[in-house]
Amino acid sequence: MGNHAITVLPGDGVGPEVTEQAVEVLLTVADLYEHDLTIHHRLAGLAAIAGEGVAISDATLELCEQSDAILFGAIGSLPAHERQHASVKPEQALFRLRKSFQFFANLRPIRPSRSLYHASPLKPRYVEGTDLMFVRELSAGLYYGHLESIPGKPSEIRRTERGEEAVDTLLYTEQEIERVVRAAFDIAVARRGVVTSVDKANVLSSSILWRRVVERVAVDYPAVTYEHLLVDACAMYLLREPSRFDVIVTENLFGDILTDEASMLTGSIGMIPSASLGVRRTRSGTFGLYEPIHGSAPDIEGQDKANPIAAILSAALLLRHSLGLQQEALAVEAAVEEVIQDGYRTVDIKEEGTKVIGTREMGKRIAAALRRT
Ligand code: IPM
Ligand code: MG
Repeated sequence: MGNHAITVLPGDGVGPEVTEQAVEVLLTVADLYEHDLTIHHRLAGLAAIAGEGVAISDATLELCEQSDAILFGAIGSLPAHERQHASVKPEQALFRLRKSFQFFANLRPIRPSRSLYHASPLKPRYVEGTDLMFVRELSAGLYYGHLESIPGKPSEIRRTERGEEAVDTLLYTEQEIERVVRAAFDIAVARRGVVTSVDKANVLSSSILWRRVVERVAVDYPAVTYEHLLVDACAMYLLREPSRFDVIVTENLFGDILTDEASMLTGSIGMIPSASLGVRRTRSGTFGLYEPIHGSAPDIEGQDKANPIAAILSAALLLRHSLGLQQEALAVEAAVEEVIQDGYRTVDIKEEGTKVIGTREMGKRIAAALRRT
């Protein structure tokens, strides 16, 4: 059994707590299936700013580069009054990772557990049958312009004679669109064969180009049916008829917003993992970054309250996509499902008649379920 290297960046807030449980699960997998994992922990975000003066150091990026995968916790944010003038912002850690490794395809599966249909704020009959995969473009669009001022692609607040004005640039090249759209069609082939491409083509030039590229790519996938949907309509259908979707592909900011919305179908944002994939191949998969979609939740930091399931399911995605360990990934997902079915809940998904447990106990129970399989 070969050696796999994983760099763990717990980050801020509840990041370290949930990541610790995900690492425990990975170590359990390594033990049970006799894999040799080398795990390095490094700082990122506010923790790195405090410890190393930067959101993520070059040395840490280098270590990530040499690893098969990155397991990420959560990134904190500066208080609003410090944000505008701060030269170092914690989010830069994420943007540097996403940009420098060209993690362009961010997979966010939304598959509510049957036992959690009642935990969703939506009526169960709307949630029923939902099983969809978001493919969020992650390396371009409005998010960039932050790292360095790219000429012709400003993101800034500037002073004018009439007061301040602000600009962000939504720029996509056809190559950037094509690679993520292809990723979505490839994923659809292995699922139910339906792609929904989400844009705002009635307003935005970038969306008009996006549609053109989708049309072109679709020709190569005769077995996949596809549709275009405007982002506002998509937001509505996610609540009205989520089961109509199979694979949803969209640009960076739309994907950020829609996935937080869609997470509510599962009862909590604490349930949704993600995989950010680029192009570099590892020995048996694709180099990637794995992180829960939730934030650092500083209000519950250190209280053993955070739901570690998103982090643990992110570890399952890591096993699947970067280490090529499909059977192990399925075992982790089944262990999570078993513990939920047994009625154990962190506070974010608690319901009447369930047993509320903390972050650590949830992790422990999932690892124990894994050992039983
Ligand atoms: C996410 C987060 C990040 C994003 C933040 C922390 C910058 O919300 O991964 O969804 O907007 O991409
Ligand atoms: Mg987000």
